[in-house]
This record gives sequence, structure tokens and C-alpha cells, in this order.
Amino acid sequence: MTSDQGNGRVRSGRHVITAANLTVGYELHRERQRLTALRDVSLTVDRGEFVVLVGPSGCGKTTFINAISGLVSPWEGTIEVNGRPVTGPGPDRAMVFQDYALMPWRTVEQNIRLPFELQDLDISEEERDERIRRYIDLVDLGGFENSFPYELSGGMKQRVGIARALVSEPDILLADEPFAAVDAMTREAMQGELERFVSATGQTVVFITHSIDEAITLGDRVVVISYRPGQIKEIVDVDLPRPRFDYDVKTLPAYTELRERVWGLVKDEAFQTARGATP
Ligand SMILES: Nc1ncnc2c1ncn2[C@@H]1O[C@H](COP(=O)(O)OP(=O)(O)O)[C@@H](O)[C@H]1O
Ligand SMILES: [Mg+2]
Repeated sequence: MTSDQGNGRVRSGRHVITAANLTVGYELHRERQRLTALRDVSLTVDRGEFVVLVGPSGCGKTTFINAISGLVSPWEGTIEVNGRPVTGPGPDRAMVFQDYALMPWRTVEQNIRLPFELQDLDISEEERDERIRRYIDLVDLGGFENSFPYELSGGMKQRVGIARALVSEPDILLADEPFAAVDAMTREAMQGELERFVSATGQTVVFITHSIDEAITLGDRVVVISYRPGQIKEIVDVDLPRPRFDYDVKTLPAYTELRERVWGLVKDEAFQTARGATP
């Protein structure tokens, strides 16, 4: 069953990601302590939905998408993708890492090809080559196919990471501050491309950002996470028309109201971080 949510993106009622009372943390062996990064988080994400996570540094945003991708396991509660508990990474989910995570000894083209080598995907050689070319174009890296990561700027490395995540055309795209290192103008262009792209493919996206403008211009919902241990403070529905980059949504009164609301929620948490709240 599909339903139009009124903002131009079609969502089915089916949950793709379900976190139920999820608590995740880390063993700090040196300190002989356990650090709870996320506590009792429950969230469902519908197919085709674009969910943005915002919150202060260290509140557990990366931990949450790592739990979806299967890189960390729940201490308590459950995390399911398509109705099945997550037990590890899989080709249905791809991640754009905050620190790029490129292989320095591989060229741009070879980095983007990596998912095809790691995953057993039923895709012909021609289709692989065609997709690699297409995603290199999408992220505007034509001409840099044979460059190595050390020859690229931060923004270019980030775009390699984005192309690498998209090339396997995953159901779920997990993006950890993917545009943080990209210059302001390229960033706006890439936000527009991403919106257009995921609208066309129907991919489900969980996206982390520090930028409230980015959260509102991209998200169907903005999930505000509180300072450690991270908990969902509030979920803000973003009911603005799409495609947002064709309208000038930033001039709409509703945009300004949303911006104030999200900033109000994030501000308290940010100040708590600045005061150095205890772990
Ligand atoms: N691999 C790890 N080992 C130990 N502690 C970690 C690890 N990764 C994250 N943490 C801690 O967990 C908390 C949440 O981190 P993270 O999920 O990266 O937050 P965010 O992405 O919101 O900045 C922080 O206190 C961080 O120091
Ligand atoms: Mg992070």
C-alpha cells in the first residue's frame, strides 16, 4: 500500500527500519567502564522516507546508524531491517562514512568499485562499469577516475564515498554528515542532487547533519537527539513541498518556523555539551 504524505514523496506504510527500546554502548577497556551511547531509542522509518538525525556531538548519532548497518550490536532492545534483526552489514544497506574511509592505495574508480568486490551481487561486468561511470558523473568526479585519495580535497573524497555507497543501489542509504567537508556552494548543489536522486529511486535514507538548514531542506522528519546517553528528544515533521530545491522553500514562513523550532530543541542540548555534561 502506498500513500502520498502530502510533500511529494511516496511512502509505503511498511516499516523498513524498526528500532525498539534500543540501547547501545561501548566497553571502555582501559577505564574498565561501559559507556552507554544510546538509551532506549524507539524509531520506525518507512520505505522511501528521508529521516535526518540532529543533536550535539557525542549524542550517539553515528552509533545509531552503525546499529542499523550492523557495525555495532544492541545491548538491549532490538534493531530490525525489513522485519529481520540486524546481524551484520548487508548489501541492502550502504554507508557514507563521516571520515570517508577510502582505501588510500586505490584510485577513485577502484574505491567506487569496492562494493562489487565485497558483495556477491548479481550484476554483469558491463552493468558494473556503466554504474561506476554514472555515479562518478553524478558526484562530478569525471576526469579524476585514476586519481588517488591523497590527490583529492576533502569534499572530493566525500563525493567518492557517496558514489561508493550509491553504486550498489542499496535500499537504505545511511549517511554520516556526508556534506560536512564539502564547500558551501557544492553542498547546496549536492543536497539538490540527493533529493532528486532518492526521490527517483525510492531509497530510504537516514542522514546525520549538524546543519539545521540541511536537516529541514532534506528531511521528511527531523529526529532531535539529546545529549548522552542519546535519547529521542522530539521528532519534527517537515511538511514542506518537494522538490524543495525547485521551490525556494527557505523563503516560506513555514520554513522559518521549522527552523526556529528545531534550533530551540537543539540549542539546549548544545549548551549542555558545551558545559561538559558528565558521561
Ligand atoms: N568505538 C568506540 N569506543 C568507545 N566509545 C565510543 C566509540 N564510538 C563512539 N563512542 C562514544 O559513544 C558516544 C556516542 O558517539 P557517537 O555515536 O560517535 O556520537 P555522534 O555521532 O552523535 O557524535 C560518545 O561519547 C563517543 O565517545
Ligand atoms: Mg558522529
